Amino acid sequence: MKVLACIFDLDGVIVDTARYHYLAWKRLAQELGFYFTEKNNERLKGVSRMTSLNILLETGGIKLPEEDKIQLTDKKNTWYKEYISELSPDDILPGAQKFLDKVRKDNLKIGIGSASKNTHLILKNIGLDKFFDSVVDGNKIHRSKPDPEVFLNVADKLNIPPGNCVVFEDAIAGIQAARNGGMACVGIGSDKILHEADLVVKSLKEMTLEKLYSL
Ligand code: BG6
Ligand code: MG
Repeated sequence: MKVLACIFDLDGVIVDTARYHYLAWKRLAQELGFYFTEKNNERLKGVSRMTSLNILLETGGIKLPEEDKIQLTDKKNTWYKEYISELSPDDILPGAQKFLDKVRKDNLKIGIGSASKNTHLILKNIGLDKFFDSVVDGNKIHRSKPDPEVFLNVADKLNIPPGNCVVFEDAIAGIQAARNGGMACVGIGSDKILHEADLVVKSLKEMTLEKLYSL
């Protein structure tokens, strides 16, 4: 394929926020009286806040009315925002800034496609709020990954056909979203979990332009 744009997921790809999401959900589960495992947490990666809560409640065997669910997602988000309030450029994941700079130097377009409604706050805290050519986040989309809406939206804003975009994702749902949108995808994390991606690297530290152009 001819690569013209790179679209990055934010949480767990550019910045180390995935662990804070997990901490907050685990704390909520504890309040609800059950232990939420890291394995179950994989299903929450990449999906919206409310979908995450629904999965969490399902694993705990709990059914609640909509009003209660809204309260619980608000509570989780308050804790989560406390955790990320101290984020700084030091929390950019290993190799991410270097790879972003290489991609920029090679004149490719660069976008963010994230389900998070906290995207803007996070980008500001890590000093990357002006870096990307286009940012589409959870405030602008209607359908959660694995629906391709978020990535198609970024590609559209960048004015690049989906077939020329490569998505970088740490979530199974995100990899499926890229594929559903007709984009190539690099998984960031474990190849056991992310085997549906075209290529898996442990972190962006392992990513090179050669690997990108060989997709
Ligand atoms: C995704 C995370 O990026 O954003 C999910 O992988 C999270 O775990 C989702 O639930 C929504 O984030 P937020 O910040 O809007 O609650
Ligand atoms: Mg992610």
